Parts: sequence; C-alpha cells; structure tokens
Amino acid sequence: MVKIKNNLATFIKGDPKNIPIVFVHGFPFDHKMWNNQIEELSKEYFCISYDIRGLGESPSNEGQFTMEMFVDDLQEIIETLKLDRPVLCGLSMGGYIALRTIEKSESSFRAAILCDTKSEADNKETKVKRAEGIKKINGQGIEKYVNDFVPSCFAEESLPKSFYKETIERSLISSLIGVKGCLLAMAGRTDTTEYLSKIKIPVLVICGEKDKLSPPHVMKEMADKISDSEFQIIPGAGHISPLENPEATNKTIKDFLSRKARK
Ligand code: MLT
Repeated sequence: MVKIKNNLATFIKGDPKNIPIVFVHGFPFDHKMWNNQIEELSKEYFCISYDIRGLGESPSNEGQFTMEMFVDDLQEIIETLKLDRPVLCGLSMGGYIALRTIEKSESSFRAAILCDTKSEADNKETKVKRAEGIKKINGQGIEKYVNDFVPSCFAEESLPKSFYKETIERSLISSLIGVKGCLLAMAGRTDTTEYLSKIKIPVLVICGEKDKLSPPHVMKEMADKISDSEFQIIPGAGHISPLENPEATNKTIKDFLSRKARK
C-alpha cells in the first residue's frame, strides 16, 4: 500500500511501464471489489486502486465530502504516481467520480470504463432517500443501514455466495462518518448527462443484467449518447458486476482494452 496526500490508501500491481488503469470502487465498498479484475489485468496493465476517502482504509477526517473533493483526490493520485493518460474505470459512485473527472480533464485519459453507474444527478426521491439513510445511521447505526442497502446491490443468486458475505462484513466496519459523507457527496453531485455527447475518448459501458440501481435500459441510453462507446451486459450480475461475474467482466474489459487502449 502507498499513502498519497490526505492519506488515501492506494494500491498498485503490475509493471509501471504498461498502460495504467485506475479503478474507482462503489459505495459503501472498498478497493477490494476490484481484486478479480486486478489479478487478471495486472499481467498486461499497471493497475491502481484506492479507497475513496471515508471508506476502506482511507480516513474520514471531518466527513463533509463533496463529489469535487473525490475528483481532486483521484487527480492527486494520478499526478503523484505520474500516470500517463490512464484508463479510468469506475463502478456506480466510482462511475460518478470517473465521469466528472473526465468532464474536467478528458485529455488526461486514453479511455474509460463505466460499470453499473449513471450520469444523472440525484432526483428528489433519491435525495430524500439519502437523507433518510443519514437519519437511519444516526438513529440505528451503520449495521441497520448496510443490512438494508447492500442486499439491493446484488442479484438474488449472489446472496448465498462467499463474496457477498465478505462484502457485507467489510461494509459493516465502514466509518459512520465516512458513509454519511459519501451520501452527502452523492446527493450534491452535478449531472454529467449533457457532457456525454461531447466525450471523444473510447468508453466501455458495462451493466449487470439484473442491476436494479442502474438498470440496463438506463445504461444503454447513456452509452448511446457517447460517440465512441460499446455497451455490454454482464449475465447473472446485479449492480456489482465485477464481483458477481468476474469472468465475463474481465473478458469484456480485456477485449475492449486490447482494441481501444493503445500506447
Ligand atoms: C454505489 O454502488 O456506489 C451506490 O449504489 C451509488 C448510489 O447509491 O447512487
């Protein structure tokens, strides 16, 4: 593990001479959700993952996060590690961070992979749900929040699997301040939909077949707005495709990178 400014826990694997890929995880998870991808892709790519502030091993500090702060953190990692036009790969909240980062500095990236995410900002109903989430954490603790929210991220058939149990266990030890900070940051984020049609770099859009949070028709619409995009459905997966069907996710990413992420 290397610590970047703000003590962000950052992890590297692979040969630094290869094309870099930065992986940004979803909420309320940590960098380990990408282990299956990094194990495979680090044979050919330089893989970087990190824990978003407030989650995993990264500190929460004051806990009043914004999406722009998350973008600054990501840019700091890229600058500190001197990564040359990395591929940016984000899932769900990681996708919100990736899209906003690309909107701010597209020329710093050679390609993007957007998994189980969306470009729209929170609507009224979702903002209210975020507020109820914070209220629930304050009144009943993180356990109640995680046990109510995390199952909805997975397909029914993933629930008996060991990766699901491990993910729940890691989410349960998340920092209370960190989780609430992420909810505030997501509720306050900007909408990147208008930017989609301006994106010039190649983008792979991946969606779990059974994703209830960012369903296939929403992600297909998003992919259709991006000029150089490919849309792939991951069979049997819910909202966390890289964990639920790593074989299909890895193959999809490897195929895309071999065609679109050149030196
Ligand atoms: C995630 O997986 O990152 C979250 O579901 C995102 C969200 O709640 O909008």
